[in-house]
Amino acid sequence: MLTRILAAVASLALAPAAVLPLVHTPSLAAHPAPAPAPALAPTPPMGWNSWNHFACDVNEQTIRETADAMVSSGMRDAGYRYVVIDDCWQVSRDGAGTLVADPQRFPHGIKALADYVHSKGLLFGIYTDAGTNTCQGRPGTLGHEVQDARTFAAWGVDYVKEDWCHARGLDAPTQYRKFRDALTHTGRPIILSLCEWGYNQPWDWAPKIGQLWRTTDDIEDKWGSMLSNLDQSAQHAAVAGPGHWNDPDMLEVGNGGMTDDEYRAHFSLWAVMAAPLIAGNDLRSMSDATRAILTNHEVIAVDQDSLGAQGILVSEGPPDLQVWAKALHDGSRAIVLFNRSDSSAKITASFHRAGLYGDSAMVHDLWSHRDLGTFGGSFATTVAPHAVVMIRARAAGAH
Ligand code: GLA
Repeated sequence: MLTRILAAVASLALAPAAVLPLVHTPSLAAHPAPAPAPALAPTPPMGWNSWNHFACDVNEQTIRETADAMVSSGMRDAGYRYVVIDDCWQVSRDGAGTLVADPQRFPHGIKALADYVHSKGLLFGIYTDAGTNTCQGRPGTLGHEVQDARTFAAWGVDYVKEDWCHARGLDAPTQYRKFRDALTHTGRPIILSLCEWGYNQPWDWAPKIGQLWRTTDDIEDKWGSMLSNLDQSAQHAAVAGPGHWNDPDMLEVGNGGMTDDEYRAHFSLWAVMAAPLIAGNDLRSMSDATRAILTNHEVIAVDQDSLGAQGILVSEGPPDLQVWAKALHDGSRAIVLFNRSDSSAKITASFHRAGLYGDSAMVHDLWSHRDLGTFGGSFATTVAPHAVVMIRARAAGAH
């Protein structure tokens, strides 16, 4: 019986809202639960979004060139899939109430753009807002949920980010569920990215509605902002898992406001948190260093690990010298030794604290891509200021 209850509780995390009452009924709990809909995001979504770099200055040329660059840079092969246009693509509604794209900036329309993105082996995303207007004052989806979902599906949209500006007085779970239902009824698999900035405790309800939900205010291309979003999103690690993810906001890697060490830290920490990896830089002109960060396949593998566990802070010795760890499907651990301070410092990661038992572990460095050897009990190294060392540790003798 206990096993059955545990199985029912475990299935809660993945079950669509419609089947939830079943697990409260003991007589029905004996029957197998209906198979959950295939998860749209079994691992954290990866892609690119226009906002962090371009803000309102979006047009179809930039989006096409970004799709091209995603392929030529190797990002598509590294796992990035979604090309998402954020706010400012829309200008009005037509006589039938259908959203209209800016005719100057998107002269060929959104459908043609989605087709182009798809022709590159990529997926296409767009932005709207649950309220009357978007954050930039463009038309919002309130009262047009079914119509906008149908429009997006007809255009070939695969991902919608739904914002929360001009939504005063509305109930967030109700509005997001309404739009999710409208998306579901189109029959097209479309990821729903909730963006209400963590204001309505989305970690308590969003996992049953969308695939990712923002946990914080907007990230800025600054060290302090990145740290703040990290610390806030880390509070909700327990609710992340296959199909539903905490979103500490899009990446700033390559936008110029941080050093490459800081960007490596940003990327490593997002990966250890199983955060969506949505690049936010100009892919057409990125430096080799930026491209190397965004396409580090060993760090991406940590983010995309099939277990889907969000890593946590496991120790902080002296303040600002932190160790984060994420359990991986094969029993190994990704470990980030994170120096938040302004000077170089030695950081020690205890294998036991990271969840590895046994006397020793084999250590592989995920930035230098080298095996570092077998270490007893812990791994210690000097970490530069505002930087990380990221390793994968496997209990010695484990396969
Ligand atoms: C909000 C969101 C951002 C971005 C802008 C667009 O601030 O949080 O990510 O989408 O709106 O206006």
